[in-house]
Amino acid sequence: MRTTPLTPRFGLLVDGVDLRDLRADHLYPEIRALFETHSALLFRDQSLTDDEHARLGTLFGPLENREAMASGRDVAFEVSELSNQTGAGLLAEDDLRLLNLQANMLWHTDSTFLPTPALINILTARVVPETGGETELASTRAAWADMPDPMKAQLRDAVIWHRLSHSRSKLSADLAALPSMTRWPDRPWRAIWPNPVTGEEALFIASHAFAVEGMGHQEGQDLIDAAIAFCTRPDYVYSHQWRPGDVLIWDERATLHRGRPWDYAQPRILTSLCCSVTTADGLDAVRLI
Ligand SMILES: [Fe+2]
Repeated sequence: MRTTPLTPRFGLLVDGVDLRDLRADHLYPEIRALFETHSALLFRDQSLTDDEHARLGTLFGPLENREAMASGRDVAFEVSELSNQTGAGLLAEDDLRLLNLQANMLWHTDSTFLPTPALINILTARVVPETGGETELASTRAAWADMPDPMKAQLRDAVIWHRLSHSRSKLSADLAALPSMTRWPDRPWRAIWPNPVTGEEALFIASHAFAVEGMGHQEGQDLIDAAIAFCTRPDYVYSHQWRPGDVLIWDERATLHRGRPWDYAQPRILTSLCCSVTTADGLDAVRLI
């Protein structure tokens, strides 16, 4: 296994590993340690089937199954396909499914609106456009370490409320009103997530954040916007240009991410899954209810 930094502040390219070979007692402990310390890991030239993708996920934690969470019933897990292509062809520009992909182009953290947030996203590329369509990551750990004291003072003990339909409403009222967007009750989390392994703190924030406890609506939104703007300065950002076979994983507790646009006349297919956090990942430090 060889590693190369992706940026001076966070992220590693990991060479010499076939992700299909990971087992709980073989390679996974080393990869997991790198994940805790570097927040983002890139693996090239992988070839994961959906089943292998899911098996890799289960090493990190319970697979996030939103349909099961929403219904309270057993629902078979499926790896998510992020694509502008359907059986009927490419999605039209006003298709709500394309607008939902575009909502992922706002800086966000996955699943902050769920009863249990995500630990990790494992994203892999199947079909990529010639240009564009990058995925960008921002280290909220590095940014928090550098943040000026006045902004830190406002955020250190803050409680931030999250709502999926809030981020969707920035693109389309119709998108925000879909039952799949409104089915989750508003969710509060403490703003600072200390990593239980390294002790390093990171800001836990997202485009889904709509209010700060104890602040007026505008004051809270302004603080959220300013904090995200600070965390996504170029010093803290890694921009990933996809190649088929790439697998990019990131720590949802310590990063923000966003997709970038591409020519939607070209197909792009990524597959994705998240694993939920557990108490071992420091959940109790941010949980209020
Ligand atoms: Fe995402």
